[in-house]
Amino acid sequence: MNESRSAEHVRAALAGAVSLRDLERLAERVVDDPAWQYLMGGSDDEITLGENRRAFERLRFRPRVLRDVSTIDTKTVVLGQELAMPVLVAPMAYHRLYHPEGEPAVARATARAGGLFVASTMASTPLEEVPSQCPRWFQVYVYRDREITRDLVLRAKAAGFSALVLTVDAPRLGKREREARIGFGLPAGIRAANFAVDQSDLRLKEAGTSSIAHHASKAFDATLGWESVAWLAELSQLPVIVKGILTEEDARLAVDAGAKGIIVSNHGGRQLDGSPATIDCVEEVAKAASGRVEVLMDGGVRRGSDIVKALALGARAVLVGRPFLHGLAVGGDEGVLRVFDLLKDELETTMALLGRTTLAEIDGSVLKC
Ligand SMILES: Cc1cc2nc3c(=O)[nH]c(=O)nc-3n(C[C@H](O)[C@H](O)[C@H](O)COP(=O)(O)O)c2cc1C
Repeated sequence: MNESRSAEHVRAALAGAVSLRDLERLAERVVDDPAWQYLMGGSDDEITLGENRRAFERLRFRPRVLRDVSTIDTKTVVLGQELAMPVLVAPMAYHRLYHPEGEPAVARATARAGGLFVASTMASTPLEEVPSQCPRWFQVYVYRDREITRDLVLRAKAAGFSALVLTVDAPRLGKREREARIGFGLPAGIRAANFAVDQSDLRLKEAGTSSIAHHASKAFDATLGWESVAWLAELSQLPVIVKGILTEEDARLAVDAGAKGIIVSNHGGRQLDGSPATIDCVEEVAKAASGRVEVLMDGGVRRGSDIVKALALGARAVLVGRPFLHGLAVGGDEGVLRVFDLLKDELETTMALLGRTTLAEIDGSVLKC
């Protein structure tokens, strides 16, 4: 197939994908099996992974009618950043497993859509190469060797990232059996590009072990405590957002530690299996934060209606993970943009059918309790 015909083919496939689920099915056809298992897997029995979806599906709306819903406005502001809709790209490792253009393609499309991109410590593109026209936060894993983290954070600051996202639910990686079963290791040509060091441990392909989990367990600092929030804030002079909170106790500690935002997250069901669905924790965390910091959430957001449910329970915005890599795999920039467009369209329709024209009008009254 020549290039223009294949571009035509991708355009048609994207146009025919009318839901994120459709895009996932298309992606499964083009992503090789090890990268697919790495992307889609959760930990242990994947109870939490499934629960993230089921909990959204259990919630029901209380629609109001005969209101003028001819104009719907999905604009919002998240930690001072204006966005066209309350959707951020969750930090995910190794985008180049899914498309040769990797993180820059996702960030370019995010800028076009008016979203915000969170770059992972474990990105397959150096943080300096994430296009600066896109609003960007940098996700931090704290290494045992604090100098490594210090260096990364200062680089992120110098490159113009506007906030740090400290992931706190991964003192070691969860037991990801899909990866272990196939002995997942990074293929040739893909690397943790923020690091210059030898990465042979990430390439090992040995049945029974995930080399990524093995690397993380060796490298990440399992002694990390709440003082790390102030350390990162002082070091970078950037707002620190804590990602991976599921309880009111930790929400209060995060606020006391100086966090400027909280992301309710169970790492997409990839860490502690048996954790609750994130949508079931949003209200508890938002109440504990009581407006002192912004609360975001991720995990299982696949519909515009899910965004409304999250906002109704107290979230300011959502992060979406896997679907953006499905879009990337299917169609590069255009595939990522398609994910944003579908979510925005569904969000607007849900708002109109609920009788709400702005995000500010979405509160607990849109849900049946
Ligand atoms: C392939 C993959 C890689 C991920 N890498 C990271 C990471 O490097 N840092 C991090 O904080 N979270 C990481 N996550 C978790 C996401 O940020 C997010 O919490 C989760 O994917 C949201 O759930 P969803 O995929 O159901 O939307 C990763 C998730 C996936 C699927």
